[in-house]
Amino acid sequence: MSHDHHRHEFGGPWTEQKLTCLKKYLDAYMTILRRHPWFSTVYIDAFAGTGYRTMETNSTSASLFDEPSLDHEATAYLKGSPAIALGLAQPFDKYIFIDQKETHTLELEKLREEFPALSDRIVIERSDANVYLAKYCAETNWSRTRAVVFLDPYGMQVAWDTVEAIARTKAIDLWYLFPYMAFNRMLTRQGPPPAAWANRITHVIGIDTWQSVFYSTEQLSIFSDDATRRSTTLERIRQFIVERLKTIFPAVCNKPMILYNSINGPLFVLCFATASPKKSVQDAALKIAGHILDNG
Ligand SMILES: C[S@@+](CC[C@H](N)C(=O)[O-])C[C@H]1O[C@@H](n2cnc3c(N)ncnc32)[C@H](O)[C@@H]1O
Repeated sequence: MSHDHHRHEFGGPWTEQKLTCLKKYLDAYMTILRRHPWFSTVYIDAFAGTGYRTMETNSTSASLFDEPSLDHEATAYLKGSPAIALGLAQPFDKYIFIDQKETHTLELEKLREEFPALSDRIVIERSDANVYLAKYCAETNWSRTRAVVFLDPYGMQVAWDTVEAIARTKAIDLWYLFPYMAFNRMLTRQGPPPAAWANRITHVIGIDTWQSVFYSTEQLSIFSDDATRRSTTLERIRQFIVERLKTIFPAVCNKPMILYNSINGPLFVLCFATASPKKSVQDAALKIAGHILDNG
């Protein structure tokens, strides 16, 4: 791997976990779809990044007592989701990589050189993922096309409208890394959240009745005003996301995976849903994804 890749640093064990789940699913998916050659297969990475990610090799085992690394050669280039998807034993017929940042799409272009046999199958779009996906989902003829979409935002960037557009295709399997921590932070403890955050929450989860779910109002004493307080738990938020997805997808994994940072703070909830209306496809997809989410 050349070292001139634009540095795109993120990660830790939770990054490994999300990518391991994705890879396992893509492998299983293509093994099945290979037996249905009349379908054209598409992998869509809507928050694609650069293709790779860098990681200081020392930091993987960093403890309080580790010497800081001065050895720059120790920087390893690890595959991000686009490189993982291109490296499958049975590749997709088409790859769509979307990122808003030009420095990232320029890095993504380099994947063509690294996977020359797949170069013609790669589409790279510098675009807002929501805008692109809404258009792509609406304009594609899904009768002979099947796709896996991976939504891997940093935070509260995925509009609920986009998730709905994906569900409407009846042809997409979705992996959505829901931004639990960002969401939870916007649900301010002493509610309700400021208007900008409230609007963002509504934009991401698609309903504006969430206040009654996550806040309770109590009168502390007859002398004070009512206090609106957050009453929520990780489990409640996880189940809420599952329920939201179930309003638009016919099959959703009941136990999405919680990804924690190194000090056990929950960061994301990795969700799976399939838009297929066919019971046999739903059963197979849920079985595979459920197994992956249970075991990492
Ligand atoms: C967590 S990174 C993706 C990592 C990648 N999936 C991987 O595994 O290597 C999120 C990416 O989303 C991009 N991004 C943020 N907002 C976006 C938007 N609205 N539309 C498209 N891309 C966006 C950022 O530039 C960043 O590269």
